[in-house]
Amino acid sequence: MRPPGYESSEWAPREPFVVAVRLPIPTPSLSTTLGAFLPPDEQARISRFRHADDRLRSAFGHILMRYLLGTLSGRSWKACRLVRDQRGRPRPERQDMDVSVAHSGEWVIAGAIRDSRIGVDVERIEDVARATLTTYISDDELADIAACNSRHRDKQSAALWCLKEAEGKLLGVGITEGLRERSFPLREAVQSRRWQWQIRGRSHVAQMDSEQRYILAVCWEGPLGPVPIDLVPWELVLRDL
Ligand SMILES: CC(C)(COP(=O)(O)OP(=O)(O)OC[C@H]1O[C@@H](n2cnc3c(N)ncnc32)[C@H](O)[C@@H]1OP(=O)(O)O)[C@@H](O)C(=O)NCCC(=O)NCCS
Repeated sequence: MRPPGYESSEWAPREPFVVAVRLPIPTPSLSTTLGAFLPPDEQARISRFRHADDRLRSAFGHILMRYLLGTLSGRSWKACRLVRDQRGRPRPERQDMDVSVAHSGEWVIAGAIRDSRIGVDVERIEDVARATLTTYISDDELADIAACNSRHRDKQSAALWCLKEAEGKLLGVGITEGLRERSFPLREAVQSRRWQWQIRGRSHVAQMDSEQRYILAVCWEGPLGPVPIDLVPWELVLRDL
């Protein structure tokens, strides 16, 4: 299951391992094939989604989380079990690792980490642009957005939403509480790679896809540094099914 070039020893403790996959067009047979590899409770949950693309996104996300955990632990992904807490947060049965997943449009991203906690999110920028800023953005953040070039405002507000959701997933509260209170000083963001920005003081990065339609965020407990976000072809993830 491990793609060529990945070794579990490459990941230091508290260093995020993040993979993004652009999904194929869903077919009933693909969703059924994926579902067959998940435990019965996850299969039952996924089968309740009305749309085939939602079933595919969720099933693929769960396989992707196991794929990362298998890589980090040097074991077969099929041996990696996930449980959920009472708020729906998935976590590995092994206590020394953590995992997170997000889906939007054709993208599924997952992150895993050893000896720490992680949260990830991905959003289509035009979807976030339609949301009411004041429901999730603090007064300081609104001032930062107002001060930036109007061409970048939608990207800035999408980055904030994404950062807050990723942090909410790390904490396990999602987007149910503290969105405005958990404020990010975007003016202090430092560009660390092409399309990638880090926020000082907290371990967060936000990154855009090269077409600038989506934005993703990673939040983890550990030292700040650029995060390699690997684009992995979906066929590679499913290679060993
Ligand atoms: C978690 C949450 C932010 C997801 O947002 P979304 O935009 O709908 O979906 P995303 O694609 O970004 O992420 C979905 C994934 O987040 C994960 N997730 C769900 N609840 C989570 C939580 N509390 N913490 C961390 N991750 C969570 C799941 O793995 C889910 O994928 P899956 O359903 O295929 O397993 C949102 O649903 C939320 O805030 N939930 C609150 C949970 C809560 O308090 N529930 C109370 C029930 S008693």
